Amino acid sequence: MTPQDQGKKAVIRVQRFNPDVDRKPYLAEYEIAITADTTLLDALEHIKSELDGSLTFRRSCRHAICGSCAMNVNGANTLVCNRRVEAFLDRKGRVTIRPLPYLPIIKDLVVDRSSFWEQYLRVKPWLIPPPSYDDNLPADSEFRVLPEEVAALNAAETCIMCGACYSACQVVAMNKQYIGPHALLKAFLRVLDPRDSAPAERLEIVGGDDGVFRCHTIFNCIDACPKGLNPTQAIETLRKLAQKRQAFEAARVERQQSL
Ligand code: SF4
Ligand code: FES
Repeated sequence: MTPQDQGKKAVIRVQRFNPDVDRKPYLAEYEIAITADTTLLDALEHIKSELDGSLTFRRSCRHAICGSCAMNVNGANTLVCNRRVEAFLDRKGRVTIRPLPYLPIIKDLVVDRSSFWEQYLRVKPWLIPPPSYDDNLPADSEFRVLPEEVAALNAAETCIMCGACYSACQVVAMNKQYIGPHALLKAFLRVLDPRDSAPAERLEIVGGDDGVFRCHTIFNCIDACPKGLNPTQAIETLRKLAQKRQAFEAARVERQQSL
């Protein structure tokens, strides 16, 4: 603690809800000492270990890698492990932490992410190589990917599946059948990957009733993403490709055969 941190305090307002005893969620306030380096997650950990052991939240890596600590802070979705308390305090020295919105609350800050993962699996998020790829190519052969293709895909690769975009999406709020920005970003990653052999199948899924044409282009997903990703742009690209998916797949097959 530096001399400047002496006596610094913050009021952490946390939404609490235990479905076994509470009729509805409520805000609890905890006053704690902080320093310039105290993160929102540090504050929650302190409350849990020193003030109320029943406080429930998810976290794991503490380094903005695992995606498990996404919450709603002062009305905006973010990770809590890499954001400092000081940056969020209002004039009364308070910050308000709630669970991710539009998802069922299991307890306190923990939400049920089942629909998030179900939608993710719908786009087949794994790479599907050409069927003959392993048999026909020598063991030391390479699948060449152009530098500009790598650059286009690199950003989408850094998604940590935190759910901040999904839970900020107004379309998701109204319709849990919508595939959602996280899964559409992953579909973009696979469709654009020249090693993948199923772009038409993927484009049929994302171009269907629950996919890219449901997006209202509200941009909430971009604002919410703690990794600075752009699901809206990926959705726009998928919209265009979905309209010419057969031709896109034919070009993919041709390219793969020329390698
Ligand atoms: S796109 Fe961003 S906000 Fe959405 S799940 Fe990935 S990292 Fe989280
Ligand atoms: S604890 Fe892993 S991203 Fe925050």
